[in-house]
Amino acid sequence: MVHSLVEEIRAALETFEHRESLLDEANFVQRVNALDTIEFRLLERIENVLYEHGYRQDLARLYQRAERLWQRLEAVNGRLFRRYRKRIAAGDAPATELRQLFETYAGCALNESSQDPLGYDCLDVFVDGVFGIDQAPEEIRPLESGMIGYQATPARAILALIEHAHLGADEVFYDLGAGLGRVILLVGLLTEAQARGVEFEPAYCAYAQQRASSLGLSRVSLVNVDARQADYADGTVFFLYTPFTGRMLQQVLDRLHAEARARSITVITYGPCTEHVAPQPWLRTVWWQTFGHDTLAFFASCKPGLD
Ligand SMILES: C[S@@+](CC[C@H](N)C(=O)[O-])C[C@H]1O[C@@H](n2cnc3c(N)ncnc32)[C@H](O)[C@@H]1O
Repeated sequence: MVHSLVEEIRAALETFEHRESLLDEANFVQRVNALDTIEFRLLERIENVLYEHGYRQDLARLYQRAERLWQRLEAVNGRLFRRYRKRIAAGDAPATELRQLFETYAGCALNESSQDPLGYDCLDVFVDGVFGIDQAPEEIRPLESGMIGYQATPARAILALIEHAHLGADEVFYDLGAGLGRVILLVGLLTEAQARGVEFEPAYCAYAQQRASSLGLSRVSLVNVDARQADYADGTVFFLYTPFTGRMLQQVLDRLHAEARARSITVITYGPCTEHVAPQPWLRTVWWQTFGHDTLAFFASCKPGLD
């Protein structure tokens, strides 16, 4: 039985080794799929067989071959990401070109056989690669009750947000609970708006600010503060990917309501917090779209003085 498994793994590996097109930078989606299969269907499988049946030289050799191929393919992606990073930092990557490129990766499944239920796809790999977003740094400040830990908004939901928010130069966009900065980096890259992140965790905040600076995204900034205490006086659009729940969420919504008494604002939600935001009497739903299990929803504040 182990013998037939070894042959199956060998055949799968050879198929990838012979696919020269995977080394072509332009074949990003196929390469991401191949990397995913090599990692989870070959390397992980070999590790399990070695663990269950003990050391086998044929499998150990296959493992090394699979690892070498994985590294070669990763290196192609690395070059591609570095090139875009350089162009962005030099101000030489027009938003229209990037948006078009991003659209081609949005919706491309990470694995040939399945759609990710959380809505992540090849675009997430590309965006994180270009932004240099890797492992989240270790947290310094423990979360308080009601606060939700880091989870990135799927990049295609952020693209849909940008598409529908029409963020011009006079808009000030806030991401409440900005995490590693994915949302504000994309807003800063693809729109003319100011993009501000409010993040409780100092290590995330510093990480995101460093990414923005290294990409030369001067309209992106972060503030390391509890969203209940942040200053929102210049904000026009506020995004929340369920950063907190319950009383804390209501306290922040009350702060936004106070802002909405002075000027019209847009509140955009993603994930479970949408259900809590939708019934707020000072907001009306204007648009929504579902991604996997989660909904991206846009709410407009009632005209100042009318609620
Ligand atoms: C679900 S993640 C969203 C991350 C980010 N918006 C994105 O889509 O990539 C929630 C984030 O909110 C932060 N957070 C939780 N409570 C917060 C608070 N009271 N003030 C500021 N940030 C908070 C967490 O540290 C975490 O990074």
